Amino acid sequence: MPQDVTADDSRSPTHAELLSRPIAFIGFMGAGKSTMAELTAARLGREWFDTDRLVVERCGRSIPDLFAAGEQSTFRALERQVIAELLIGEPAVISLGGGALEDADTRDAVFEHAFVVNLAVSWDDVKAELPTLMQTRPLLQNRTETEIHELFLRRQATYRKAHMRVRVPRGDLEAAADYVLSALMG
Ligand code: S3P
Repeated sequence: MPQDVTADDSRSPTHAELLSRPIAFIGFMGAGKSTMAELTAARLGREWFDTDRLVVERCGRSIPDLFAAGEQSTFRALERQVIAELLIGEPAVISLGGGALEDADTRDAVFEHAFVVNLAVSWDDVKAELPTLMQTRPLLQNRTETEIHELFLRRQATYRKAHMRVRVPRGDLEAAADYVLSALMG
């Protein structure tokens, strides 16, 4: 990556700079962000945080409960708050909820302060998991496959902006984590 000799805030961060930041896994629901973030954190000797878990801990309510009560905006506000805190803490590995970057403030902060890694999944993989995803993710309940596909496509624009994209082979999680780690190390 080319490096500027003058101070210029608009230049792209170098790989070394990115590695000194918190590592944020982004991607669609069911991509395996939490598992991969946990395994990556263990390999790097960093702490792992999952934003969904932190939101639930903080408000004492489940995500399905918040969504069922029509409080998606409360969920996004709490998500924004926990992510902002994680970005200024000791660099950890963070798994973000699949829609966290729909919030513009969260998106800007994450791209500015984290090493953003997109765990990419194909629509075919998502489709194969749809029955499970539709049961466990409130956002997908009562939606048609076409609507979910549209959501998937719409979110790709943000996912594609990640500093790094990895598509992990399905199956052996430990091998997948080794693969992610070697990609991270460049
Ligand atoms: C959401 C994804 C979920 C969770 C919430 C909303 C989304 O996290 O944050 O149900 O908007 O994509 P996962 O991506 O971990 O499933």
